[in-house]
Amino acid sequence: MQIRPAAALTGALIGMSALFLPTATAQADGRTTHHHTVTVAHRGASAYAPENTLAAVDAADDLGIDWVENDVQRTRDGELIVMHDTTLSRTTDVEQVFPDRAPWKISDFTLDEIEKLDAGSWFGPEFQGETVPTLEEYMDRVSDNHQKLLLELKAPELYPGIERQTLRELRREGWLDHRHRRRLIIQSFSADSVRAVHRLRPDVKTGFLGTPAVADLPEYAEFSDQINPSYTTIDAGYVSAVRSVDGAHGKPLEVYTWTVNDGPSAVSVAGMGVSGIITNKPDVIRDALDDAS
Ligand code: G3P
Ligand code: CA
Repeated sequence: MQIRPAAALTGALIGMSALFLPTATAQADGRTTHHHTVTVAHRGASAYAPENTLAAVDAADDLGIDWVENDVQRTRDGELIVMHDTTLSRTTDVEQVFPDRAPWKISDFTLDEIEKLDAGSWFGPEFQGETVPTLEEYMDRVSDNHQKLLLELKAPELYPGIERQTLRELRREGWLDHRHRRRLIIQSFSADSVRAVHRLRPDVKTGFLGTPAVADLPEYAEFSDQINPSYTTIDAGYVSAVRSVDGAHGKPLEVYTWTVNDGPSAVSVAGMGVSGIITNKPDVIRDALDDAS
C-alpha cells in the first residue's frame, strides 16, 4: 500500500483547478453545475441527519444531491442492513435496550431485534424513532428519490457470501437491469470482495477503496472501474497515474475520493482530476465546485 501525502502540491493545484472544472450540466434539482466532478453524500448527507438512515438519504435529496453512499452488513439471521460500524453501539441505543449483549456486534443480533433500536436520537432529538434500514428499504427510498447508489460492502470478511447475496437483492429490486446500471457502483476496502462482485456480475460498475501502489494499478483494473482513496493520501501525480490505466470496462479508471468536508479541499482534489468527491456536507462541496468553475 502506497501513501502519498498531498499537502505539498495542494496550494499550487488550487490555482490549476479551473483546468479540470469545465462545462455546464443540469442537476436533479434544476440547478446548473459547471464541472464534471460528482458529489456523493457519504452515508447519506450525514452532517445533517443520522448516517445510513432514510433520513440521511432524504436530507441529500432535499439538497438536490443525487448520489448517496451507504454501508451494507448482515444480521445474525442473514438479513442485509445498512450500517457503518460492525457493532450497534455508536449509532443506536442498543446498550440501553439490550444491556447484557456486549459487544453488540451486528452479527449477534437478528433483524427483529435491530428493528427495535433507535438509530436517530444519538444524532439529535428530532430524529428520535429513526430505525436501522434494511438494504431493501434503503434501495426503495433511493429509488423513490430518483437517486443513485454507491454501495459499500463493509467488512465483507465477516459475512461470507455477502457479495452474491447483495447482488441477488439488487437484482430482485431491479437495480441490475440494463436501464438502471448507471445508477449503481459497488465498492469495498476488500479487493477479494470487489473481485468477487466483478466475477459474479461483470456488467456492474465497481470501485476499490484504498490507495494501491501505482505499479499495482493494472492488477486492480482487472476487476475495478474506480480507485477510491482517502483524499489525504493523493496528489495530482497519483490521480493522473490512476486515470492513465483502463479499468474493467475499458474506460480510464475513475477516482472518487473521501471524506472531503470543506470547500478548499474539494476544489483542490477536483483540480487533481478526481471524478467524484464523497462528503458528509454535499451542499458545501457542490457549491464550492460551482463557485470555482
Ligand atoms: O465511500 C468512502 C468511505 O465510505 C469509506 O470509509 O469508513 O466511511 O466507510 P468509511
Ligand atoms: Ca462507507
